[in-house]
Amino acid sequence: MSATAAAAETIADLLSARYGAVDPPAPGPSNEVIRTLLNHRSVRSFLPDRALPAGTLETLVAAASSASTSSNLQTWSVVAVQEPERKARLSVLAANQKFIRDAPLLLVWIADLSRLERLGQARGKEMEGVPYLEAFILALVDAALAAQNAVTAAESLGLGCVYIGAMRNRPAEVAAELKLPPNAMAAFGLSVGWPDPAVRTEIKPRLPLSLVLHRETYGAPAEAEELARYDAALAEFSRRNGMGDTAWTPRVLQRIGTLAGLTGRDRMREVLTAMGFGLR
Ligand SMILES: Cc1cc2nc3c(=O)[nH]c(=O)nc-3n(C[C@H](O)[C@H](O)[C@H](O)COP(=O)(O)O)c2cc1C
Repeated sequence: MSATAAAAETIADLLSARYGAVDPPAPGPSNEVIRTLLNHRSVRSFLPDRALPAGTLETLVAAASSASTSSNLQTWSVVAVQEPERKARLSVLAANQKFIRDAPLLLVWIADLSRLERLGQARGKEMEGVPYLEAFILALVDAALAAQNAVTAAESLGLGCVYIGAMRNRPAEVAAELKLPPNAMAAFGLSVGWPDPAVRTEIKPRLPLSLVLHRETYGAPAEAEELARYDAALAEFSRRNGMGDTAWTPRVLQRIGTLAGLTGRDRMREVLTAMGFGLR
């Protein structure tokens, strides 16, 4: 179903799709922002020849800049890549994913401590907090919040997006391609473009509220039963979308239950250290 078709759906329909019809919550307060958020789906098929309207990039980055940021430190940057050759080279570094080449815009979100480091250097002040793991976490959180604001902005305009964690498969080579300074790391990419209307996308069900929403304290009662119901809903989603009948559990076991599932990212600490991050 296209994003436009979904716009006619009720909030109850969107909630039902979001939870694979497994105990969706009753509709609460809603508006167009909530509708856009509930309607999210990753888009991996883009119209390669349809350009983004003038000013889109700046609008998305202004939305990103509007996200909250730890202590207003703003430890993120974004590199906008539009040159086909550079996108093609980056796609090779990121598991050869075709949509990186097809989408007119690739945004690479940078966990960026380099600006603070330069600021310290300019004032002859050692930035004692920079070489700590906490600073790196802060930069990653800032980059993620900024990027997600851009995604919501893009989707509200009818554009499609997909994040690219594979941009971390070969972080040093990505950094070289983007000429990143030390203390800056490509946290993930984001392809942005017009969804190909010929390719149907569907809202992917998420874990039920009962598993992710804990009231007052953490508790996981009936987790096994709830996961079994979610597995069935996701398997059904996979079947409908020509992805076999894989449920959630087997995917998790493959993705995070094996080192192979880390696709080379098991050496992250070593690589980050070489890129200048202290991670103390
Ligand atoms: C940080 C991050 C990295 C991701 N990396 C990739 C990727 O490299 N390739 C891909 O096809 N999808 C990638 N995704 C998209 C997820 O697979 C997708 O969001 C998830 O399966 C849920 O589907 P949905 O976004 O359609 O709801 C990534 C998502 C996030 C948040």
